[in-house]
Amino acid sequence: MCGIVGYAGGQQAAPILLEGLAKLEYRGYDSAGICVHGAKEMQVVKAKGRLKVLCEKTQDGASVPGTVGIGHTRWATHGAPSDANSHPHLSDSGSVAVVHNGIIENEAKLRSWLMERGVRFHSETDTEVVANLVGYYYDKDGNFIAAVRRALRQLEGSYALGFLCADLPNLIVAAKKDSPLIFGYGDGENFVASDVPAILKHTQTVSYMEDGEMVVFDGHNVRFFDGMGDPVEKQRETVTWELSAAERGGFDHFMLKEIFEQPKALKDTISPRLKNGQVVFEGIDLSAAYLKDVRKIHLVACGSAYYVSVLAKYIIEKACHIPTEAAMASEFRYAEPVVDEHDLVIIISQSGETADTLAALREAKRLGAKTLAIVNVVGSAIAKTADQTIYTWAGPEIAVATTKAYSTQLAVVYLLTAYMARQLGTMDEETYHAWVQALENLPAAAERVLCPENVETVQFLASRYYGHHDAFYIGRNVDSAICLEGSLKLKEVAYLHSEAYPAGELKHGPISLIENGTLVVAMATVAPLFDKMMANIREVKARGADVLCVTLEESAEEAAKQTDNILTIPKVLPVFQPSLSIIPLQLFAYYVALNRGCDVDKPRNLAKSVTVE
Ligand code: AGP
Ligand code: GLU
Repeated sequence: MCGIVGYAGGQQAAPILLEGLAKLEYRGYDSAGICVHGAKEMQVVKAKGRLKVLCEKTQDGASVPGTVGIGHTRWATHGAPSDANSHPHLSDSGSVAVVHNGIIENEAKLRSWLMERGVRFHSETDTEVVANLVGYYYDKDGNFIAAVRRALRQLEGSYALGFLCADLPNLIVAAKKDSPLIFGYGDGENFVASDVPAILKHTQTVSYMEDGEMVVFDGHNVRFFDGMGDPVEKQRETVTWELSAAERGGFDHFMLKEIFEQPKALKDTISPRLKNGQVVFEGIDLSAAYLKDVRKIHLVACGSAYYVSVLAKYIIEKACHIPTEAAMASEFRYAEPVVDEHDLVIIISQSGETADTLAALREAKRLGAKTLAIVNVVGSAIAKTADQTIYTWAGPEIAVATTKAYSTQLAVVYLLTAYMARQLGTMDEETYHAWVQALENLPAAAERVLCPENVETVQFLASRYYGHHDAFYIGRNVDSAICLEGSLKLKEVAYLHSEAYPAGELKHGPISLIENGTLVVAMATVAPLFDKMMANIREVKARGADVLCVTLEESAEEAAKQTDNILTIPKVLPVFQPSLSIIPLQLFAYYVALNRGCDVDKPRNLAKSVTVE
């Protein structure tokens, strides 16, 4: 959940660590800290609150001299956000410092074991047992690397860890299991970090660390070891995206920038998969013979990726004629799902490291299903664990609330559906070509939705409705799935209570909550169900609701008979309408949040990747 960063080289470490943490703050932001090795001793500075508190406390790093250090930005799992619980943690004797991303599941047992041996604890975190365990072994026999290795063997759970030793001023040791960690190669300096943006300013040459691996480095030398302690050669990879991709550009927030990046992200995701009028997936093996044998498709994911799955059920089932279910990863895992080698399990994840989703993927594999992951972060745990992976090329998504990753996941669903339906023979030639055409045109259509007039209308409506206490999103068919995502966006960034219901379901209970002035966002983009939606709008209006309707440009006039508040989207092939209708909802949530004074990119209580179950 959190971000860790490490630097060893010739420059002052603290400003580099703070800068790196700023790029990782999306991963966690309830406290932050650094530990820097000056020539004589390690100095730890940490502070509850946003990174800027730490920056102020250290005069942007100037007050913490030294050229080797580790840093952390936290999303608390064990112990409230506080100065004491912030990382880095020192061992009781002060000989070892550690930063940690993840959860040590057997911390209680280890804590008692260490306390029985006279070791004292000073925080409530699980991480402190790691510091104390390594410290305990190191203080006994003076071999730091052996002490880390020995401690790692006793840890259960997930971790990316960075260590400093008081007696070794130049050295950093780092290791990982189930939390991401990359190593960055500089010139006379080296780096370690949870994610690429933290070090991209300094190097584009990285190695992605595997579970069980450990790295030992200073500014000039680096050695990698596998879980058995044997040396390993790591492949060096070049990060292809530029630093600007992970910066705000001229935008006020990453969320707004990422909303506007959607046409490009869609293009980057779609174009490489369309060749000569055909959908192609290089390196993906889903043969006609295999697909014809698939009994059921399970789409498994969390949060917004789960909402893509809900939408994908409509799309895949209709086009491929294979029974398809969407499941929340956190439920799938423990539901004893009826899954075996006749099933295809499609996992969707932006980060590729969501703990629930990773666990569900492992469960699906254990049950014998073939697994296919749709992932944004290259080299992430889910991408590596699945039998096959299709990447969304959304680029780095920094805002905690997903927008462009959601859209590109949906684009992959369309590509995959066309591909599978073609293999299965369930989509005729003409429809297939219409789909390919629609996919080609999708980025331009998304661009149109983002035109200044539309954005201004959303801004105006947001300024009108931001004071409401409740919102209901209603729609039918694919619109009902879009409602789920639109409603989540509003909850996440604007802290506004919001519910999503299939419009036809409202009268079976929730309509009792509609009263004078309740905001209802009504999606009416499914043409055959337009009249039914107008009837549902009338029902809520009759109970006093304020209705905001999203509909096709061509239906605006008709919809205007029911409500003045209309947002329109251009007409595309009907099945692709959701790719466009989500955009005004993202913008609406963004501007409502702005009006309410919320911290849009870093909403309270959330973190970008949820690496705890
Ligand atoms: C989206 O806005 C949320 N922050 C959240 O629901 C997210 O989609 C979910 O946690 C899944 O994350 P993933 O795609 O990285 O697996
Ligand atoms: N479990 C650790 C803690 O609560 C680390 C959490 C994180 O990954 O930020 O401090």
